Formats: sequence, C-alpha cells, structure tokens
Amino acid sequence: MGQVRPYYADRGLSAAFYDTVTGADERLAGDIAIYADLAGTEGRILELGAGTGRVAYALAALGHRVTGIEIAPAMLAQAQARRAEVPADIGHRVTLRRGDMTSIDLKQEFDLVVCPYFTLAHVPRGAAWKNTFATAARHLRPGGLAAFHLPLLEVMRRPGPVNPAVPVLDRPTPAGGRLLLYIRQRSFRAEVGRLDQVIEYVEHDARGAVLRRGDERLTYYLTDPQPPAASVGLLCDRAPIPLGGVGEIWVFVKA
Ligand SMILES: C[S@@+](CC[C@H](N)C(=O)[O-])C[C@H]1O[C@@H](n2cnc3c(N)ncnc32)[C@H](O)[C@@H]1O
Repeated sequence: MGQVRPYYADRGLSAAFYDTVTGADERLAGDIAIYADLAGTEGRILELGAGTGRVAYALAALGHRVTGIEIAPAMLAQAQARRAEVPADIGHRVTLRRGDMTSIDLKQEFDLVVCPYFTLAHVPRGAAWKNTFATAARHLRPGGLAAFHLPLLEVMRRPGPVNPAVPVLDRPTPAGGRLLLYIRQRSFRAEVGRLDQVIEYVEHDARGAVLRRGDERLTYYLTDPQPPAASVGLLCDRAPIPLGGVGEIWVFVKA
C-alpha cells in the first residue's frame, strides 16, 4: 500500500467520486424527506458537513433556506459548482461557507440543524462531539430541532469482506468508465468506539484500463450522543429514526 490520503482530501478520489458513490447508496434513501419533515414549512436550516451539496440543494428545492458548512475544499468546490446546475431560485436559497462544525459561530439562528450521513462520526468522540453539539445549540432558536445521522454500532463491528479482491462497489462513472471500491483494511476497536478503514478507489476508462487509483482512510467514531448533547441543552426528542439498516437519525430539541 502506498500513500494513504485522508477521506475528502484535495486530489483524492473519495471527493471526486462522492456523488457517484453516494448516488448508489440506497441506505440513504429517505433521509431528505425526514429532514424536510423536521424543518416544517420553509424552515431555516443549518447543515453541518454539507459535502457536495446533496442535502442542501434538495432541501432548497423543497422551499427551505439552507446554510451549509463544509471543512474540505474539494467537497465545498463541488457544492459551489452545483449552484450553476440548479434553477436560480433554488440556488439562491443555499448559502455555503467553509468552516469547522466543531467551532463555527455564524451569529444566526435556525429552525433546524442537520448533520447528515454519519458526519458527526467523522470527528473524535469526546470534545469534538460535545463542541459540535454546542455549535448546533448555539445556532438553534429555543424549541428548534437538531438531527444527527449516526451509524449503528453493530454495523461498525462487522468484519471486512471475506474476499478483499472482490470490489464492494462497482459503478459507472460520469466519464463512461467504471469506479471500483475495495476495502483494504478494516478494524474496529470497541473500547474506544472507533472504526478504521482504508478504502482503495480505482477508476477505469471505458476500455477497462486503470486511469487513477488511490488509498484513502475513513475513520468513524461512535458513542452514546445523549450525554454530550444534554450537556449543551439539547434533549433527546424521540426514539432514533432508523435509516437504511445501517444508521439512525437522532433528533434533539433545544430546551
Ligand atoms: C459523509 S459526508 C456528508 C455530506 C453531505 N452532508 C451528505 O449527506 O451528502 C461528510 C462531510 O462532512 C465534512 N466534515 C467532516 N468533518 C467536518 C468538520 N469538522 N466541519 C465541517 N465539515 C466536516 C466532510 O469533509 C464531508 O464533506
């Protein structure tokens, strides 16, 4: 194994092919409708970890005003480019900012904060989780809701593929080739709730020749979200909403 990049890094393939991979992920089906339902009519929404804008533009298309915070330039650039691909009124309802969800202060209030697709699990549990909940609380009006989509512990515990030579994903690329993903390393440490994976991305052209390849490290952290949320005034509002058999959306209300 050569150089291992962090996920979503500049020039990394996880950022370049985020929409190709996520668009194929049926385990996310229905997440937008859940967030839209929590937002009510034309609610103001803050998205923590907006990525390429998958959620932000979809919620804007439903009439919501969305501010998306994203730390990775390679992801933010794609979210900004997406504005040119949507009708102007939808684009106008989306504001994008580079920032760190563990510390940002926009000095604005929202009706709903969303942190979709395991984004909270990307930062270490402990101070980073508590600080992210504090960001959510700081930006919510009293009575506002915060939704955090987290992976299930039993899914994080699963071993890697029996045959690592078989791709875990094989999808057509926008350029007419194929993208193959392989799990090269996977280990879960229960005592710290940490899953480490090295995922190899391989892009083939239409004739099957390898165009690009790269190894990228994806780490997820998991713990009970209720204590750090409660410590900043976010109280669990209902039972977590199951999503796609691999995760659940925790909903908190600002007291
Ligand atoms: C799995 S993607 C989710 C993107 C989008 N919300 C979606 O559901 O498609 C996680 C995103 O969170 C971003 N992220 C990770 N840590 C962050 C932080 N501390 N502050 C802001 N964004 C962060 C990553 O760069 C990545 O774009």
